[in-house]
Amino acid sequence: MPSDAAPRDWRAEPDGTSHDHTRFAAWQSAAAEVQGWFSDMSAAIWDGFLGQQAAWHMAGDMLEIGCAYGRAAMMLGLHARLGETLRLIDYQPHHIRDAPARIRPHSQGSITAIQTYSERLDLGQLPMRGTRFMHIDGDHGRWGLHNDMILADHALAADGLLVLDDFLAPQFMGVTLGAIEWMAQHPQSFEFVMVGFNKAYLARPRFAGDYLHFIRDALPAHLHALGHHDFSLWLTDERRACSCFGITQRQYERDFITREFAMGKPDKRPDGKPEL
Ligand SMILES: C[S@@+](CC[C@H](N)C(=O)[O-])C[C@H]1O[C@@H](n2cnc3c(N)ncnc32)[C@H](O)[C@@H]1O
Repeated sequence: MPSDAAPRDWRAEPDGTSHDHTRFAAWQSAAAEVQGWFSDMSAAIWDGFLGQQAAWHMAGDMLEIGCAYGRAAMMLGLHARLGETLRLIDYQPHHIRDAPARIRPHSQGSITAIQTYSERLDLGQLPMRGTRFMHIDGDHGRWGLHNDMILADHALAADGLLVLDDFLAPQFMGVTLGAIEWMAQHPQSFEFVMVGFNKAYLARPRFAGDYLHFIRDALPAHLHALGHHDFSLWLTDERRACSCFGITQRQYERDFITREFAMGKPDKRPDGKPEL
């Protein structure tokens, strides 16, 4: 859990190149034959966020709603440490039987599998504010999202990260509608910090700034170090209006596209990064 008494010092943070990159290679090998809908780019991004949580000395559980074959959960398992629990939820019995068995040999954490529809989950089955990383990848509908956001609000730690699959995907408009609707009704709960490559990344408002700094100051170096160069990070609104990064395939040969660059004006910072 974060300590109020000790705010994070960004000057002392790793810059992304210094993160441990071995888990990404381990994921590529362990997940090579695992079916699923989790891309290499998302795996590289998750590896960055999870590595940063370790650099912040965060401890906590992990949770995925909709684990299917365990392709994304494999990355969580690789980052789970002794004493931490990875909870996997899926209504399909074969996924709940097979996915944990695939992940256990690669994880130091303990894996708990719960076969249920997330709508039937009792809040008491998830430790309150004990989860540092959560992925919602189950129902994919508007009302399902409302339900799963309630679970996330109960389970996510104060400084945890919540990921929504298929956010902004035209195939599953209910995900986008359901998430934005729920967030408008609960503005104190979560803020978007990054959207792209089929996922949205959300943090509690109080810790969103930490994740935004990580995205700006360390994520690009991390992705390049893993051999993922095909990205640009966009921050093109007034920062008090919307400070969420977008991440897309590379454009203009730039890691960052700022509001100033998009409007044909000089960047405010000499390094071409957006102001936060
Ligand atoms: C798109 S797949 C998940 C992909 C997976 N996360 C991966 O890494 O490839 C969706 C999964 O969610 C499960 N599912 C759908 N609706 C659900 C619900 N309401 N509660 C729990 N699981 C659900 C399905 O059985 C399916 O396995």
